Amino acid sequence: MTPIISVGYSSERQGKPRPNTAAVKPSNTSKAETYFTLCGITCYCELCFLKAAAIMLTALSINNYRSILDLKVPLGPLNVITGENGTGKSNLYKALRLLAETAQGGVVPAIAKEGGLDSTFWAGPETLSRAMKQGEQAVEYTVRQRTKRMKLGFATEQFSYAISLGLPVPSSQTMFGQDPEIKRECIWNGQVYRPSSSLIDRKGAMIKARSGRQWQVISQHIASYHSLFDQMADPVATPEAFQLRETIRGWRFYDHFRTDRDAPARQAQLATRTPVLHHDGRDLAAALQTIIEIGDKETLFKAIDYAFPGASIRIIHHADSRFSLEFSQQGLLRPLTGAELSDGTLRFLLWVAALLTPRPPSLMVLNEPETSLHPDLLPALARLILHATKHSQLWVVSHSPRLIAALEQHPDCNAIKLEKEMGQTVIPGQDILTTPSWHWPDE
Ligand SMILES: Nc1ncnc2c1ncn2[C@@H]1O[C@H](COP(=O)(O)OP(=O)(O)OP(=O)(O)O)[C@@H](O)[C@H]1O
Ligand SMILES: [Mg+2]
Repeated sequence: MTPIISVGYSSERQGKPRPNTAAVKPSNTSKAETYFTLCGITCYCELCFLKAAAIMLTALSINNYRSILDLKVPLGPLNVITGENGTGKSNLYKALRLLAETAQGGVVPAIAKEGGLDSTFWAGPETLSRAMKQGEQAVEYTVRQRTKRMKLGFATEQFSYAISLGLPVPSSQTMFGQDPEIKRECIWNGQVYRPSSSLIDRKGAMIKARSGRQWQVISQHIASYHSLFDQMADPVATPEAFQLRETIRGWRFYDHFRTDRDAPARQAQLATRTPVLHHDGRDLAAALQTIIEIGDKETLFKAIDYAFPGASIRIIHHADSRFSLEFSQQGLLRPLTGAELSDGTLRFLLWVAALLTPRPPSLMVLNEPETSLHPDLLPALARLILHATKHSQLWVVSHSPRLIAALEQHPDCNAIKLEKEMGQTVIPGQDILTTPSWHWPDE
């Protein structure tokens, strides 16, 4: 039996499997013969597929989305995104979130929440000529050469994915004429798209999957607002779709922790095991207790002591099955409750809970984690982030020179400084050697 995909992982970095590229086999054999050898055994089990899902992103590609006319971002284990206000850091972050929504079945509502596809399209001309960039020619409307599409895609070391969205043909039959349509989706083998490496191809309402040398029609009627991930969840029939969907669903975003007076993190919360901190931090006490019981409690206590010398935390179990947090500090006669903590202290504890999660995701995205932290706490935060890179790929958007400098000490740090050129987000100095190879399937 010849496998179409056989992935071997080194166990040296526990929790962050790395594909043994030598083991990736060509794709032109039968789907029924697919197997994964992740733990040294040949196996069809879901666990092995889920382990396979923990694969690192190697590139992100965005076209025609807000300030991003066309950007190909190389990614490494630790990615630090910086740039002045308005250069497009949040646009990049939002693009990644839209990709995450695709696997959750929510890309169309997510675009609607952003104001609709028309407002998310790049607002400039289709191309910016050299003369426009040099100010020799005015930026003006030109006749479009290509149909207007917003495209998002990413490459991993094994499979890659791209989605292309556009507006529907105007019709008086529906009031949903502004709903974006998924025009094309494609999953391919390896990092660079070639027709021969394509494994699953969705064009309009039709999805086809490669089966040996043939293409098999999987669906002819997929709705324009459904992604192929909504339709293809069979780990044996279409392992690549299953694996990518699980990869994307595993991404974790921390954008804004609430630390106001009424923030849920300050109050007693349900006492249930919480290996993943909620994105607004509402289950902080339970998440910390979960780390203490099944996670890396030594690092947790060290991180708190490093940030606040002599301080420690304790989780109190109340009679009504709720947990609350107590914070003991040098010089005080009694511990402080969650409600009494400063914004910065609470926020730091939230980062401790998020970054020391006992269930690390394949990708963790942190948007401006330095917010409301005193600069003296930033080395402690940087240590936590660097610790998290042992188990997860990290994407950190930051404005803080001190945090950036500390993260750049990491040998695998990929610092991406964004700039704006004629309204578009660019990575200055990117050339043919530093730009990841990328081809959109619909070009
Ligand atoms: N449809 C669009 N077309 C072109 N540019 C757009 C579009 N929508 C938003 N922008 C531009 O994107 C920029 C905002 O980008 P973004 O919010 O990502 O910046 P940022 O780097 O996160 O800034 P900050 O540091 O202030 O948060 C604005 O300058 C705005 O002009
Ligand atoms: Mg921003």
